[in-house]
Amino acid sequence: MKPKILVTRKITDEAENNLAENFDVTFNKNDEPIQYEKLIDLANQYDGLVVSGWDKFDENFFNKMKGKLKIIATFSVGYDHININSAKEKNIVITNTPDVLNDAVAEITIFLMLAACRKAYEGVNLVKSDNWKKVKIDFVNFVMGQSMTGKTLGIIGLGRIGRIVAKRAKGFGMKIIYHNRNKLSDKLEDGAKYYNTLNSMMPDCDFVSIHTPATSETKNILNSEAINLLPKHAIVINTSRGSTLDDEALIEALQNNKIYAAGLDVFVDEPNVDERYLKLDNCFLLPHIGSSNYETRDAMAMLAVKNINAFFKNDPLPTKVK
Ligand code: DGY
Repeated sequence: MKPKILVTRKITDEAENNLAENFDVTFNKNDEPIQYEKLIDLANQYDGLVVSGWDKFDENFFNKMKGKLKIIATFSVGYDHININSAKEKNIVITNTPDVLNDAVAEITIFLMLAACRKAYEGVNLVKSDNWKKVKIDFVNFVMGQSMTGKTLGIIGLGRIGRIVAKRAKGFGMKIIYHNRNKLSDKLEDGAKYYNTLNSMMPDCDFVSIHTPATSETKNILNSEAINLLPKHAIVINTSRGSTLDDEALIEALQNNKIYAAGLDVFVDEPNVDERYLKLDNCFLLPHIGSSNYETRDAMAMLAVKNINAFFKNDPLPTKVK
């Protein structure tokens, strides 16, 4: 008998076809989110799940598993929606999709940096509202931003995505500085300057961008103390997870022009966004689209499927969460 697999959300046709060749698969043709309690019931009927970052797998979920479920392959690099310790206790393997989305997230990071420093929000609104022709255009004030070229970018978490962001930023002549728990090798640093504390790096940042995974250690890593150490012209970027920065502190800094601007793709309670962000002209917001391009989503779905295939063939798993 073929192992039974449930795919909780619509994935690419290629990935679905590949799964259908090898498994007894239930797809979510309508792409309707499956409610938490329903997912618990369903999960007990399957050997494997292919899931999204929007599905939640907490301690209670794993406590209710009765022994059939063996693997959850999430088509996301982040696995903060899965309680890894509880999964381990139940011997349920977790895989994710690292690396294939590094370029896409780096693109969105650079996009937010440019949008925030060149006042894209103000510019787009002016044209779309048809107010361009109504405002006075002058040489020194009209949608005036600041340059990105030659500035210093502080990266919090110079990991796989952070290093691609660094590479792209160097194309703008930017100097890269970073803070990680530990200093990287010269090869991985690739010329970036290391700061052993976050607070010591803050005063030197023209831009600061967060690229850490969401864990208990990185919760509010960019806190009020750190934000208050940034120069007044600094720009804060977040494409990691909403939990890595303190919203109260960032909003206060933006409202009082203690920093210049922010560019955010991720929020604590998505898709709900703190309404105060919506009112700020110096904050450029996106709806968590770091990995949203066809090439990347294809690669993520196929990597999730490869993990499922490897698991049931007893082959080494391409990207198991440790
Ligand atoms: C991920 O894969 O974790 C991304 O945040 C999804 O866009």
